[in-house]
Amino acid sequence: MKNADFYAENNAKHMWHPMAHPAEMLSKPPKVIASAEGVHVTDVNGHRVLDAVGGLWNVNLGYSNQKIKDAIRDQLNKMPYYSSFRGTSTASAVELSVVLKEWFEPDDLVRSFLCSGGSDAVETALRLARQYHRVRGQHDRTKFISLRQGYHGTHFGGASVNGNAKFRRNYEPLLPGCFHIPAPWTYRNPFDESDPQRLSEQCAAMLEAEIKFQSADTVAAFIMEPVLGAGGVIPPHETFMPMVRDICDRYGVLLIADEVITAFGRTGAWTGSRLWGVKPDMMCVAKGITNGYFPLGATMISAIVADAFENNKDAFGSIGHGYTYSAHPVGAAAAIASIEETMRLNVADNAAVQGETLMRGCRQLMSEHDIIGDVRGKGLMICLELVADRKAKTPLDKQRVDAIFNAAYDAGVMIRVSGNNIILSPSLIVDGNHIATILSTIDVAITSTGDRR
Ligand SMILES: Cc1ncc(COP(=O)(O)O)c(C=O)c1O
Repeated sequence: MKNADFYAENNAKHMWHPMAHPAEMLSKPPKVIASAEGVHVTDVNGHRVLDAVGGLWNVNLGYSNQKIKDAIRDQLNKMPYYSSFRGTSTASAVELSVVLKEWFEPDDLVRSFLCSGGSDAVETALRLARQYHRVRGQHDRTKFISLRQGYHGTHFGGASVNGNAKFRRNYEPLLPGCFHIPAPWTYRNPFDESDPQRLSEQCAAMLEAEIKFQSADTVAAFIMEPVLGAGGVIPPHETFMPMVRDICDRYGVLLIADEVITAFGRTGAWTGSRLWGVKPDMMCVAKGITNGYFPLGATMISAIVADAFENNKDAFGSIGHGYTYSAHPVGAAAAIASIEETMRLNVADNAAVQGETLMRGCRQLMSEHDIIGDVRGKGLMICLELVADRKAKTPLDKQRVDAIFNAAYDAGVMIRVSGNNIILSPSLIVDGNHIATILSTIDVAITSTGDRR
């Protein structure tokens, strides 16, 4: 490692950061994280903080899982890479395909298509959805419907179904044939509806109306996160996803569950679809699949979709899609170990228990701080929405949000700020002491910026 001056001198000067303005990164360089242990990370200046972000909702088992590290090392020594394109496979990819089939059996997902991350997994699902309909002779079914506020990665397909202007505006025109309906978000919605069940019914009715308006025989799929994440952590009412499933079934539209965040226990259930009792036609997974130790994603495929491809006898069924790093053997080894550890540590139960404590604590903070306009979440994915005026719900300005982030960091906790939201997504192995530290530090950080009721 170089000395601290080297990092100060070169930080953000020669690389551009994702989801950031290059000029802002130059004027306010990011923290440089150098090491990690358990649920803590340490920067190049030796400042150690509790990571309430869990990397980026992906380091579910913390930073010190030796079994995953050993599996990666062993696979690198055995064989660092071989291709899975037609004609070859790798031993670890075959083993992972069995592990995934077993893991997703309760969701009735029987096949996997492996790739390098969440955006790849979404792109794969969108492409396979169109192809599924072609294989079945329904060539006009090309359109996609999704939720406003939804986040589906940044490939052109994913950005086109994304529901947030900041990921779309500068990259337009996006894919034609993508349409959006309002998300079941009680805090802000076009119906001025604060009852979650009634709102859920209204949003489901919008889906049905949109499918009819587009003409059902032109719609390929509806894609949604079971709990919306990056768009501000929006857990729909429990009736929403089952209603969506029913509507999709009635109109022959595939349901894609984007579970890049939710697939390995974060909501307190093993998958978000299981949380709501729904079986999707395809599921996008990534992040926790390797605990963030290696870039890997997967699109999981149901028997109905798989049968259509596997019984096809012409060129429509051939998959003209894939990546050099599809089914990367080191990623596969990391995923096998990670899934084993995820199960052994039973992190879904811990996410449910600690998530409730964190939610209670955040609600308490809301009762003490005017600038917290809303608290929402499920399991260990929680958002505190910051406002300048509670009644008008005016988003808190960026300067104060940044000041809260810096104050929390200085006081020992890494939080994530996105727009006017604080998003908490710690590792799923956190205990009660960690939760107490996160809460007391946010309290200190908000108070230090001048807010106290
Ligand atoms: C629901 C969802 N889908 C897709 C993605 C994109 O994944 P990646 O950043 O690995 O490409 C993310 C990333 O946060 C996500 O939360």
